[in-house]
Amino acid sequence: MAAPLEREVTLECIACLWFRVLSCLVFGRRCPPSTHLYEQTMWPDRRIIELFKTEFPIVQAPMAGIMDAELVIAAAQGGALGSLPCAMLTPEKAREQVNIIRQRVSAPLNLNFFCHKAVDADPRREAGWKQRLAPYYKELGLDPAAPVNAANRSPFDPAMCEVIEELKPEMVSFHFGLPDSALVRRVKAAGCIVIAAATIVKEAIWLEENGADVIIAQGAEAGGHRGMFLTENIGEQPGTFALVPQVVDAVRVPVIAAGGIADGRGIAAAFALGAAGVQIGTAYLRCPESRVSAPAQAALSQALDDSTVITNVMTGRPARGIPNRVMREIGPISADAPAFPHAATGLAPLKAAAEKLGKVDFTNLWAGQAVRLGRDMPASELTRGMAEAALARLRQLAA
Ligand SMILES: Cc1cc2nc3c(=O)[nH]c(=O)nc-3n(C[C@H](O)[C@H](O)[C@H](O)COP(=O)(O)O)c2cc1C
Repeated sequence: MAAPLEREVTLECIACLWFRVLSCLVFGRRCPPSTHLYEQTMWPDRRIIELFKTEFPIVQAPMAGIMDAELVIAAAQGGALGSLPCAMLTPEKAREQVNIIRQRVSAPLNLNFFCHKAVDADPRREAGWKQRLAPYYKELGLDPAAPVNAANRSPFDPAMCEVIEELKPEMVSFHFGLPDSALVRRVKAAGCIVIAAATIVKEAIWLEENGADVIIAQGAEAGGHRGMFLTENIGEQPGTFALVPQVVDAVRVPVIAAGGIADGRGIAAAFALGAAGVQIGTAYLRCPESRVSAPAQAALSQALDDSTVITNVMTGRPARGIPNRVMREIGPISADAPAFPHAATGLAPLKAAAEKLGKVDFTNLWAGQAVRLGRDMPASELTRGMAEAALARLRQLAA
């Protein structure tokens, strides 16, 4: 797809350069700038485009729980790297989704996984959490003792690694660090480029030393779970503007900026800070190809710049989102929330029952601080629009 096009452009540019040199020598003047040469040099850093072989240096962020193959396909058709979140999928479901994507679009693909250290549920904390949630169970007429059968988040494991070896996605991205080195080696041996998220410079250096080919610098503005894994201090998490240049200075691999980027201005700013690409999540939530429910869409469309907070009550790990009822009444931060991902287990029946009533009282409304910049528009159009606006802004700044 993108690769042959880039090769053509490059050959054409070499020919054009020769023509320009000859015209200088023969006519003693410069020929007018060539559009395609201009186009090719417009992204200040082409490492991500060349490595990922995408049209634009934009990654549609994987967003577990609110998207599937449809958003990946639409973002890829728009020229971004489409990412399928697999943290809440079984190997069979991941396989099925990848087959759908591969049938509908011929573009590079990123599969995304969580790689937290799995801990067993602590019965005492679970009991305390259930007690904390008891009034809600009563209100919704639910039995707190009934077994919960809801999908939760699993870390990357040998079974998923087999899926990677079989499907060979071009990219594999990890959140919460990296899996064991043996698994990282297997992913690389399958020919995949390994991407991983850092929230502080120390994590970026660790990721590079442990095999990441590309690092996502996830600033505090970002929606969803903080990718933090060498720190637990939420208050110390730097914002994107401060984090990106410091990560760029600390590692040799290309850096992708994430957090608070939702239009061309944000993308241009990320490049000015030294990023070679951007990962965008929140801006894609309002695309018709996302699986965000209508009541959650209503909350997103009304959200302002100060509408999001970091909470641990929804899953046990810090994540940024729009406050729902349980976050307001128990959180946003509570010491009672069981360890990740077990806090979500007790909430699952409440979420399902409230959603049947059209309520988002217990639904994750993950979103970043740029949520207000979101627009209702197809993902492919959004991707192209953001890329074109970024290029226009970069041109304007260079003039
Ligand atoms: C709804 C939502 C779900 C997310 N789920 C994941 C996920 O499954 N895996 C992951 O690596 N990152 C996840 N993230 C974080 C994104 O990868 C990315 O860091 C973030 O969206 C960037 O900030 P932005 O939301 O301001 O664009 C999620 C973000 C959102 C908004």
